[in-house]
Amino acid sequence: MEGIKTIAIDGPSASGKSSVSKGVAAELGFIYSDSGALYRGVTWQAIRKGVDPQDAAAVIECMLSAEWSFFVQDGAAIFSIDGDIPVQELRGKDVRESVAVVAAIPEIRRFVVESLQSLANFGSLVMEGRDIGTVVFPDSPYKFYLDADPEERAMRRYRELVAAGEDEKAHEVLDSLKKRDQIDATRKTDPLVVAPGAQVIDSTAMTLADVIKTVVDAVKKGDTK
Ligand code: CDP
Repeated sequence: MEGIKTIAIDGPSASGKSSVSKGVAAELGFIYSDSGALYRGVTWQAIRKGVDPQDAAAVIECMLSAEWSFFVQDGAAIFSIDGDIPVQELRGKDVRESVAVVAAIPEIRRFVVESLQSLANFGSLVMEGRDIGTVVFPDSPYKFYLDADPEERAMRRYRELVAAGEDEKAHEVLDSLKKRDQIDATRKTDPLVVAPGAQVIDSTAMTLADVIKTVVDAVKKGDTK
């Protein structure tokens, strides 16, 4: 574990975390990890097993009875559930609408947080999420909080969904994003907050390349304050 670094990139939905984290990981040769994919994976597993995502006890049981494996592929930490590797399935509307409720269940957070912490065994990581700097890797000296105006974030997400072939309405995307932000910021366990010592980056008027450079430069300087 000597010399292993963990870069935490937190922020609300569609703030640019994924593109920025992938870019930073590629530039520094670190492993990219999307923590939200795990909460989505738990939600997807429940839905495909016919479990109601609102039924916390049943979702926990479903998560614990599944077989989870973690590995690195093409520079990213990924996972399989009962032998299947869900990717596109995690971005579907059914998962999107239930994931914030599932991610608010403390037992589920504990399982996901421990799984995420174990990924450091693979090497240096860039991990994106909501609680990476506060809970998963609180001792990391490299913490960033990405933000952007809600309208800009909704527009980015809308364009992504349309490009992925989804039939969505822009105002519905904005409503669903605000609703998810609200659940994430107000839940009792590990709410979305700016981690102490995190550098806040408002990307509303910045290009992706500028944001990546800001993070990479700060990490190279060893100072994110
Ligand atoms: O891509 P987007 O930012 O919209 O979502 P995501 O990062 O895939 O996360 C999906 C959901 O998982 C969030 O709305 C949170 O409810 C939850 N999540 C969390 O609670 N903690 C994390 N570290 C990451 C995601």
